[in-house]
Amino acid sequence: MSRVESRPLLSSVSGEIAADLGELAKKVLARCDALAECSECKGAITRTFLSPAMDACNFRVSEWMKAAGMRVNVDRAGNLRGYYPAHDENDTDLVPRLMMGSHLDSVPDGGRYDGVLGVMLGIGLVEALEGRHFGFGIEVIGFSEEEGVRYGFPFIGSRALTATLHAPHLARRDANGVAMFTALDNYAAAHPGVIDPEFHMGTSGYLEFHIEQGPMLEHAGLGLGVVETIAGQSRVKLTFRGRSGHAGTTPMFLRHDALAAAAEWILAVESAAGSAPGLVATTGQISCQPGAANVISGIVSCSLDVRHGSDEIRRSAVEDFLALARAIAERRQIEVDHLIEYEQPAVHLDPALIAIADKAVSDAGISPRHMASGAGHDAMIIAPKIPAAMIFLRSPGGISHHPDEAVLTEDVESALQAGMNFLHLFQHHIDQPIEREPDSCTT
Ligand code: GLV
Ligand code: MN
Ligand code: MN
Repeated sequence: MSRVESRPLLSSVSGEIAADLGELAKKVLARCDALAECSECKGAITRTFLSPAMDACNFRVSEWMKAAGMRVNVDRAGNLRGYYPAHDENDTDLVPRLMMGSHLDSVPDGGRYDGVLGVMLGIGLVEALEGRHFGFGIEVIGFSEEEGVRYGFPFIGSRALTATLHAPHLARRDANGVAMFTALDNYAAAHPGVIDPEFHMGTSGYLEFHIEQGPMLEHAGLGLGVVETIAGQSRVKLTFRGRSGHAGTTPMFLRHDALAAAAEWILAVESAAGSAPGLVATTGQISCQPGAANVISGIVSCSLDVRHGSDEIRRSAVEDFLALARAIAERRQIEVDHLIEYEQPAVHLDPALIAIADKAVSDAGISPRHMASGAGHDAMIIAPKIPAAMIFLRSPGGISHHPDEAVLTEDVESALQAGMNFLHLFQHHIDQPIEREPDSCTT
């Protein structure tokens, strides 16, 4: 027989929430527009880990957090953290906490909603409370790094929070040779009062809103969707080493052109991935040396990003793609080597929070659809430590990682409504008694 252990009932938010969610949706979108100005490049959105643009972004967001009644800190990993307390009498170290948010960094020349929208919705929801409080605290987090641009390694912010950032990661160097640990030390020195990147002990759930970044919701005519799983990903760096030489004097049959080999391999990977359902493989970065119009390429480095919902299929695809590279290199009499830079298994989000998200979405008038995410999200790093849920917003045209990324005002309003429903349901969830198996050593 199972034993029922009661948690104290926590007081729910009192009174009707009367905020105008339509107006709030417009404010959320205006804030995404304002943050698009915090960029390393004029005329484009590029905001990388611990950059001055990220500092400018954190400053603006922290002002909005403070105005919404939050206590604001940054942690040593550059994560921006705003805390809106539970009912005062409940707000001790033990009080449960719901974390909401996403990331504030961007890809080069990215869109204005990827990550940012999830943070702005978290702040918008706190604003919608208009000073009322739940029995749990709400922490809104803007992760400092999710995209993996500066160090070729993603999720630095959420990894720091979950204590999964280890010495080999910290030793990585950026394009200017700055090691990650040096960048973090410099950041802490320039930001006195930074806190440790740790979960508050009461943190009992994480909710991330994010644009879908794909076409499925639009295709289904739905504004919101509930994420069930997030695809695993592998990132590999390949280096083809041929022989550089004169472009005018070296006959074609005597060449060992590293760029031609890489090009052949990229097309072979595209074709192989295209014939495997659910598999996606991308080369998004390439550099060649010596890099002149009249010199045959001697060394080419390129990236490979492979994703699938099944870890087994993804790993075996990576093996196949590496075998293809070796075969091409052998035929062209050049060398190829590789470095697995990153492997992230697929993640299933928390069934109890998925059920809450389903009800929150359906109470907002949208039939809840379960989805798999091909994109990586901070939720996949958080999920092994803290129950996590994600709600997607429709992406018009399925466009993302592109300046034309968009979102509909009506979907932002639905997300605010679903978020408010989620908060009420989460209160009910943590008020429930917990069912525990009997202790095996009790007599
Ligand atoms: C993040 O946007 C990723 O999925 O690469
Ligand atoms: Mn994102
Ligand atoms: Mn992204």
